[in-house]
Amino acid sequence: MKYRPEDLTRLPRSVEYRERTVYLIDQTAIPREFRIIGLKKVDDVARAIKTMQVRGAPAIGAAAAFGLALYANTTKAKTKDEFMDGFYSAYDRLKNTRPTAVNLFWALNRIKKLVEENLESPLDEIKRIIVAEAQKIADEDVEANLRMGHYGAEILPEGRVLTHCNAGSLATVQLGTVGAVLRVMHRDGTLKLLWVDETRPVLQGARLSAWEYHYDGIPLKLITDNMAGFVMQQGKVDAIIVGADRIVANGDFANKIGTYTLAVLAKEHGIPFFTVAPLSTIDMSLKSGKDIPIEERNPEEVLTCGGCKIAPDVDVYNPAFDVTPHKYLTGIITDKGVVWPPFGRNLRKLFRGE
Ligand code: MRU
Repeated sequence: MKYRPEDLTRLPRSVEYRERTVYLIDQTAIPREFRIIGLKKVDDVARAIKTMQVRGAPAIGAAAAFGLALYANTTKAKTKDEFMDGFYSAYDRLKNTRPTAVNLFWALNRIKKLVEENLESPLDEIKRIIVAEAQKIADEDVEANLRMGHYGAEILPEGRVLTHCNAGSLATVQLGTVGAVLRVMHRDGTLKLLWVDETRPVLQGARLSAWEYHYDGIPLKLITDNMAGFVMQQGKVDAIIVGADRIVANGDFANKIGTYTLAVLAKEHGIPFFTVAPLSTIDMSLKSGKDIPIEERNPEEVLTCGGCKIAPDVDVYNPAFDVTPHKYLTGIITDKGVVWPPFGRNLRKLFRGE
């Protein structure tokens, strides 16, 4: 790899675990304040995921894994049976927070499987295994991002890139998925301008992406979501890259609401459209995007903006994600390389290690 994480960002890790505490960058406070919160209970970690103090598919996966580490290090269970009862209830509590991003289930199941394989070990050893595995999940996320950053920067055209939502350092343990690609391009001098969609209703683009990319010195322009089409029509976008919450076996993928609209517009204007995600975001158990559960969030997110009421109390539909059919995708940048069409066949090959 040409660069190390510290060559690419000044941001610390978004999610960390030490001294029986899960530390998170509180993403609800940015850009007003940069605040790190320390959580000491599994319920607090679950609440932080639900309220989006930590958000972004890989970041919630790592936070949930650390939630289990927290359980292992703080439980008062004396017997293995008691320990396992508590473990499954912590697992359920963390699992029932957000339904769409598969990284959450992937991380929790990875630890659960390991625990179940080691049930014969002494209790202290099981606890050690949980904490070590959670840490490994977080470390591997940074390594995966670094690889995606290099793979992505190799294939993206030099010029102006548009992104939606936040798939940056904040959305992962560090660097980001999209964020790593942008950071490597910026270091290489091939990223001339970043267009950042504000991403209503929760404004992850305006609040988080604009903040973190500006912090790392990436030249950017912020636009409202409804400006993206016009910017493309004006010939001011050379490529679009977005993250993913779940990519399924045929290449369809769920990402932040508004992604589908961008994908259709990109096709109309002949602009390459990529998603960037680690293998932990790919769910080969689902055949098509129609099978992905889509989270619906509180109507207040639509009825208000920045805490101000902007609409009368009418009925609201607030899906947090949409599904982009694979026919709109140019390629999928993963930590094992770039997947090109036909996605169904090439994703299967990727998982077989071919
Ligand atoms: O609702 P959010 O903010 O958790 O949604 C985040 C996204 O849609 C991201 O694009 C996705 O999780 C990829 S993060 C690397």
